[in-house]
Amino acid sequence: MDELIHVFSPVTVKSLTVRNRIVCPPMNFNYGSEEGFVTERGIAFYRNVAEGGTGLVQVGACAISPDSLVTTNQIRGDDDKYIEGLSRLFRAIKQAGAIASVQLVHPGKLIHSPKPKPQVGPFPPGPILPIQPRDWNREELSRVKNAFARAALRVKQAGADMITIHGAHHYLLNELMSPYFNERSDEYGGGLSNRVKFPIEVITEVRKTVGTDFPIVFRISGSDFLEGGLTLNDIKMIVPFLINAGIDVIDVSAAGRVTYGSTEDRTFPSKKWGPACNVFLATGIKEISSVPVICVGNIWSLEQAEDILANNKADMVAMGRALIADPALVRKAKKGDIESIMECKHCNKCLYFLHGQPSMSCPLNSNL
Ligand SMILES: Cc1cc2nc3c(=O)[nH]c(=O)nc-3n(C[C@H](O)[C@H](O)[C@H](O)COP(=O)(O)O)c2cc1C
Ligand code: SF4
Repeated sequence: MDELIHVFSPVTVKSLTVRNRIVCPPMNFNYGSEEGFVTERGIAFYRNVAEGGTGLVQVGACAISPDSLVTTNQIRGDDDKYIEGLSRLFRAIKQAGAIASVQLVHPGKLIHSPKPKPQVGPFPPGPILPIQPRDWNREELSRVKNAFARAALRVKQAGADMITIHGAHHYLLNELMSPYFNERSDEYGGGLSNRVKFPIEVITEVRKTVGTDFPIVFRISGSDFLEGGLTLNDIKMIVPFLINAGIDVIDVSAAGRVTYGSTEDRTFPSKKWGPACNVFLATGIKEISSVPVICVGNIWSLEQAEDILANNKADMVAMGRALIADPALVRKAKKGDIESIMECKHCNKCLYFLHGQPSMSCPLNSNL
C-alpha cells in the first residue's frame, strides 16, 4: 500500500537491516516447558509473526538465572542446554525474513522461584508484594550482572540477531533506577547517577561479552506512572547514560508491575486510554536520543503506525496485542487485504496472568 510508505521503509541497526518499522514487542506467553525449554507452540507463534511480515521480532522475557523467572513456564537462557531450542526459535524467525531478538529479564522483587526463598530486593515493600525485602548485596548484584552477560552470549551463540535488556516494568533494573523502589544508601542508591550505575554495569558487561557489532536494545518504562517514581524528564536524563554505555536501540514502554491489572494500568493500556496512548513517552525520549526509538502501547493499526512514523514521533512501532490477534497483519496490509485483518477487540483475555490462566490465548487467534 503506497500510503504506508514510512511503515515499509527499512531501518538500519549497526550492520543489520530491518525490512520495515513494525516490531513485535517482547511478550512472555508462558509457552515454555516446565524446565524452561522452547516449545513448538512458542516457535509457531513467532514463525507466524515473522511470516506475517513483521520487521523485528523480540521474543518475550527469557530468564537469565534460575531465580529470575517471572512465570512458571518461561523460556530460560541460564544454561548451555537451552541453546539448541533457542536456535530453532531464532531460525524460524530469521528464515521468514525478520530480525530476531530476545528479551533478557531479571524481575527483581517479583521473583517466581520454583524453590521459594526469602524475597530480596533493593526497594521498600510495594502494594503488590507486601514483603519487607532487604538490600541486595554487591555479590548478588555482581552475580546478576554476570548472568545477564552469560545469557546474552548464549542467545548470540543460538543465532539471535540482537538482544533486548529488560529495564522496564518495575523489574530489577527499573527498580534500581527508580527512587520509588530504591532506598539504598550505598553507591547504587541516592542520586540519579548512582541509581543508573547498575544498569550501566549490566550493559557494559553484556557489551564486553557479545562484542562491539552485536546490537543491544534496552527496554525502559518512559515513566513509572507512580507518585515518587521516575518521570519522563528523569528518563530523558537517564537515557544518555545508557547510550553512552553501549545500547543501540531504546524501546519505550510504560509503568509496570505495581499497576498491572488496575484501571490505571499503562503497561497493557486498556481501550479507555485511546490509540497510541504512550507514544508521547517515546517522542520525548527521541528528542534527546542518538539511537533509534521504538514506541508501544495501544497502537491498533498500521495507519496509526504510519502517522507516528510520518510525524517523526518514533523510529519504529511495536504492536503487541494487535499481532496476537492477527500475526499476519503486516503482510495483509502490504497486499492491500485490509478487510481480512483480525482487529484486536481490547478484551485483554490474553493477559492470562491476571485471570489465573496457565498461558496466553486469544479468542481471535485459533492457532495459539
Ligand atoms: C500476553 C502478554 C505478555 C507480555 N509479556 C511481556 C514481557 O515478557 N516483557 C515485556 O517487556 N513486555 C511484555 N508485554 C507487554 C508488551 O510487550 C507491550 O508493551 C504491551 O502489550 C503494550 O503494547 P500493545 O498495546 O500493542 O499490546 C506483554 C504483553 C502481553 C499482551
Ligand atoms: S485476547 Fe483480546 S485484547 Fe488480547 S489480543 Fe486477543 S482480542 Fe486483543
